[in-house]
This record gives sequence, C-alpha cells and structure tokens, in this order.
Amino acid sequence: MREINLLRRYPKAKRNIEKRTSAQSEENIRIAREYGREYFDGARDTGYGGYRYDGRWVAIAEDMVEHWGLKPGDRVLDVGCAKGFLVKDLMKACPGIEPFGVDISEYALLHCEPEVVGRLHLGNCLRMPFPDNSFSAVAAINVVHNLERAECIRAVREIERLAPGRGYIQVDSYRNDREKEIFLSWVLTARTHYDPAGWRQLFEEAGYTGDYSWTIIE
Ligand SMILES: C[S@@+](CC[C@H](N)C(=O)[O-])C[C@H]1O[C@@H](n2cnc3c(N)ncnc32)[C@H](O)[C@@H]1O
Repeated sequence: MREINLLRRYPKAKRNIEKRTSAQSEENIRIAREYGREYFDGARDTGYGGYRYDGRWVAIAEDMVEHWGLKPGDRVLDVGCAKGFLVKDLMKACPGIEPFGVDISEYALLHCEPEVVGRLHLGNCLRMPFPDNSFSAVAAINVVHNLERAECIRAVREIERLAPGRGYIQVDSYRNDREKEIFLSWVLTARTHYDPAGWRQLFEEAGYTGDYSWTIIE
C-alpha cells in the first residue's frame, strides 16, 4: 500500500466555504445522494452545478498510464466514472487501451461523453460484475467515502479483487480540527471520513494493497 497522488495535476477547486455553509441543508444532502440531474447539472448547492467535460482529466490519465505502465489492450476500470470523462481521456492518453467505467447513476450514464458509449456499466461498487483480477488497474476517485464504513470496506475489497495491488483510491480527509470543520461544512455526499491514519487503518482492514491519496480542503 502506497500513498501517491495521481491527482496532483488536477486543478485546485475554488470553494466558497462561507456560501456553502449557509446553503447546506438536509434536503440538499438528500437530493445530492440521489446522484441524478440535480447532483450533476443542477444548482451548486446540490452538487457540481454543471458537470461538463473540459479536458482536466487528460493530465491525470497521462499520469495513470505512466504510473501503471499501461499499454494498448490493457483493461482499466474507473469506479464512480460519472459521465466517463476519465474513461475518455484514458483513450486519448493511450490509444488502444481498453478503459471502462462503472457508476450507480443512470443519469450520468445517459449523459455520458459520446466516445465512451458502451464502455460504462450501471452498477454499485459494492459488487461489481467482473471476474477476479480482470483489470490491469482500477481507479476510484471521490467515490468510496460516499458509503457507510462497512460498505466502504466492501467497496475497497472489490477494487482489490478486480486488480490486486493495482488500485488507486482517492478520498477526502483532514489533518486537524480546523480542516475537519471545513470538510464538514462543505461535504454533501460523504458518509465516511477520517484523518489519514484512520483511512490507512480502514484500507488495512479491507486487505487493500493498492495506492491511495487524500484531498484536503484547506
Ligand atoms: C463525487 S462523484 C465523482 C465522479 C468522478 N469520479 C470524479 O471524480 O469526477 C461520485 C460518483 O460516484 C458515484 N457513486 C456513488 N455511490 C456509488 C456506488 N455505490 N457505486 C457506484 N458509483 C457510485 C456517483 O454517481 C458519482 O458519479
């Protein structure tokens, strides 16, 4: 298990903490957790406020190809792929590669990028319909922390099962009370959250041997 930030070239989010805190409500959280239109393409208070392709995943895809030494024919899975932006950019970063995605959101899949039609599967990361060790690499960015702890462990085990030692999991985290407070004021969908030591413990409990990183809102 190794901490490595494959998202280091992802643009830093500009988040207005004050605004988000005042807009936070149980209702917004409920709506966001449906992962429907309101989450992806509705108002900012219930999710992304417009989840549109802008090429930001190209750099991440390039880093993944280099990190795993991916080559044409290799199968890669993006868990929580949403509209398939990373899947599309993996195809650009390594022509001939076979990237796929899985996501629980029918809305996201129905509004996916045209290039990835047929590559995205509707499903739950708790139980993914693929054989053991069937991918060269599996990424799960901003996904497993949306589950309750026991389910989060199941999802991490699934990632390990599909690509033993070749997973990459990114989750949200915090290193102190101040960062935790900011995180809690911002969070919409996450149900499980820890400091880095807590996350390492969860990964160990799941028997995870892949890579991971955290995003900390400062
Ligand atoms: C915060 S978004 C991240 C999307 C994308 N990975 C990214 O970083 O832009 C979380 C994604 O996980 C999906 N998701 C949530 N729970 C899921 C589950 N149990 N199984 C599969 N996908 C799930 C949501 O539909 C959504 O597309």
